[in-house]
Amino acid sequence: MTHSGYPADRPTPLQAHSSGPLIGRVRVPGDKSISHRALILGALAVGDTRISGLLEGEDVLNTAKAMRALGAKVERTGAFAWSVHGVGVAGFAQPENPLDFGNSGTGCRLAMGAVAGCPITAVFDGDASLRGRPMRRILDPLELMGARAGECGQGGRLPLTLHGARDPVPILYRTPVASAQIKSAVLLAGLAAPGVTTVIETEASRDHTELMLRHFGAQIASTREGSHGRKIALTGQPELNGAEVVVPADPSSAAFPIVAALIVEGCELVLSDVMTNPLRTGLFTTLREMGGSIEESQLRGDAGEPMAQLRVRASELRGVEVPPERAPSMIDEYLVLAVAASFAEGTTIMRGLQELRVKESDRLEATAAMLRGNGVKVEISGDDLIVEGGGHVPGGGLVATHMDHRIAMSALVMGLAADKPVKVDDTAFITTSFPDFIPMMRALGAEFS
Ligand code: S3P
Repeated sequence: MTHSGYPADRPTPLQAHSSGPLIGRVRVPGDKSISHRALILGALAVGDTRISGLLEGEDVLNTAKAMRALGAKVERTGAFAWSVHGVGVAGFAQPENPLDFGNSGTGCRLAMGAVAGCPITAVFDGDASLRGRPMRRILDPLELMGARAGECGQGGRLPLTLHGARDPVPILYRTPVASAQIKSAVLLAGLAAPGVTTVIETEASRDHTELMLRHFGAQIASTREGSHGRKIALTGQPELNGAEVVVPADPSSAAFPIVAALIVEGCELVLSDVMTNPLRTGLFTTLREMGGSIEESQLRGDAGEPMAQLRVRASELRGVEVPPERAPSMIDEYLVLAVAASFAEGTTIMRGLQELRVKESDRLEATAAMLRGNGVKVEISGDDLIVEGGGHVPGGGLVATHMDHRIAMSALVMGLAADKPVKVDDTAFITTSFPDFIPMMRALGAEFS
């Protein structure tokens, strides 16, 4: 990172060309959500946590730095192997400098929850993308628990000073949107509160925080709530003990080579150790409904997180309708699903995408612009995205990445099967989640220039 928080000195454009079949076996990097959580829970635990397979992307490295600044000992002990010596629940020290989370909403929001339960003051900051993202949704429950937001941008935006609670109180909180980040922030603050902190969500969001809290020794119960929701109850002030964490491969990163393998003629890819937690696999379900060949084998699990080997073969895809209740389980995958939908025959309707507007960029607008600029018919109707697949994509467009790693990777995947090359204005942000994306895809046969 440079001093501005920008990952490179200047933009690094790249063009993806129509490529021959991608063939081979890969393991994409460790899951980003689990990597952040392993560092944060390791920092809040007593004793040593050993993490293998950590994602060494900028987002996670910023969380590691923040945990260090809050008093934990965080060390890299080998390739993707890290150890964390924690300070115990509510044991964070006051950081000397602002905590810079770069591009990462997850790192920032989860750390806000963890800090909210400690009697310290910390300044949270990030890059221009993160400074534009809503933080009120996190501050609202944390203030109910006794924390207080000081100086901040409009609507609680970064840079933000957070005064943690001296005596945090447990709350029962209904999340206003299905967001694992809001849920996790409340649970992490609730660790320091006496009694039971409860979160109710009407649509279940990813449950990695719950699974990992249990793995570290906390008492936490999760029950069904309504048709798609969950009620999570955490008993506060547990003794969290350092643990071993094996980070599975990230299904949200696997999504890029998977969609590439489906749309480029003659492909056959094998992806190992991909996490298959059902709250993360909405994309795989959807791609299978579209006719995509994705076979699962070698199922196993670690620390409550299932994983599998996936074999993906090039497939004729057809348009489908994706229901709104599936959105939380594939919220980061709509960009690349829209790429798959562009190559499908027929219409794909993706419903209930309002949360896409507040990600690293406004992904609803950005997806439409990416497709339109490459000759695909697309429409935004309220919170729905409608893509008219024509079996092929003309390409030839220049895609603006808006500091958003997933736009860059989606556009490059599109270019591998489009009639004309697809160019992205900047690949620099890919390093936030998938540092080896370009060399890994090249090694499989992707043509970039
Ligand atoms: C994440 C939750 C999701 C997701 C993000 C990672 C997490 O955000 O978009 O990339 O690790 O908790 P929301 O919880 O805000 O939907």
